[in-house]
Amino acid sequence: ASRLYSQLQSKHERSSFGIAFDIDGVVLRGRVPIGGSPQALRRLYGESGALKVPFIFLTNGGGIPESRRAIELSDLLGVYILPSQVVQGHSSFKTLLKRYENELIIATGKGEPALVMSEYGFKKVLSLDEYASYFENIDPVSQYKMWTTKWESSKGSCPKNLVPSFNIASDRVKAAFVVSDPVDWGRDIQVLCDILSSGGLPGDDNGQQPPLYFAADDLEYQAAFPSERLGMGAFRIALESVFNRIHCNALDCVIFGKPNPFVFKNTEAILRQLHSSCDDNYINNGNNGSHPFKTLYMIGDNPLVDIKGAQQAGHPWFSILTRTGVFRGKDNHAEFPADLVVDTVEEAVDYILKRES
Ligand code: G3P
Ligand code: MG
Repeated sequence: ASRLYSQLQSKHERSSFGIAFDIDGVVLRGRVPIGGSPQALRRLYGESGALKVPFIFLTNGGGIPESRRAIELSDLLGVYILPSQVVQGHSSFKTLLKRYENELIIATGKGEPALVMSEYGFKKVLSLDEYASYFENIDPVSQYKMWTTKWESSKGSCPKNLVPSFNIASDRVKAAFVVSDPVDWGRDIQVLCDILSSGGLPGDDNGQQPPLYFAADDLEYQAAFPSERLGMGAFRIALESVFNRIHCNALDCVIFGKPNPFVFKNTEAILRQLHSSCDDNYINNGNNGSHPFKTLYMIGDNPLVDIKGAQQAGHPWFSILTRTGVFRGKDNHAEFPADLVVDTVEEAVDYILKRES
């Protein structure tokens, strides 16, 4: 990686701008590149393959560690992506490490949510799949489900790399994390209600609701299907509606991801680091990278998430809305108008490079 950056352009050629690309509905639909994204991204690299413009992917999606997502994106998009260039909805769960490092926590969602959390350093994390498998009959309709989970065949045994010893009958769950879009909504709503309304020990009904964290709150997002799909925000509403009917206290939860301003602050810091490491290591021009960016571009497809987030973050953010995902309007979005609306990400990058040249 450092070799790649060592080939960065000389000082006068480098930019004081950076770009954050949303993924779903901007560069990919499912696993298919859209809007000329491979060509657009290639323009951010020099002829030698060196990165010219600091950019990251800023997605509310997730389910696999950033290092694996970087490899997957490199394969799909044909450019070399570093793990530090991938910020997913759950990436900021790392900030909770001190609080839960050695506590029993539950992680749910598509992909490998427990692996994601254990890579962040959480030492006692179980996937909800596995946790549920310890409780006989916790899901009364499981026998009608035609699929099997990987935990069913290994009931009672913990994967050694993820979970040290714990006692399912007495260890309370200290927090639950919705890491990525849940797969089995019915089972997850049931088991999360069990955990949250019992104070972290299903069947015990004693104690306060353990904290519940969501990686994002997208009501809908653009996947491979032509129209939008229900996202984590829809799951949150479903869980909350049920929980609030069966429990006396309203569900308490904390939501991470875009459009939270801290996500954009964090993105700015990462982009500055990408930029400054070039300065420090290879240019040595006395600039330690602490100077602010003139402009940071957010290219997104969801006005309520990407554009709202960039707007709230304020200077130096400049928002660009594409028509390849959630937003399909002819003009701008009424409530959260972007600074620029374009058809595709390729058009967005073209605009940025012309504006910055
Ligand atoms: O599940 C992914 C979705 O919620 C949003 O992804 O890349 O559009 O932020 P993205
Ligand atoms: Mg999107």
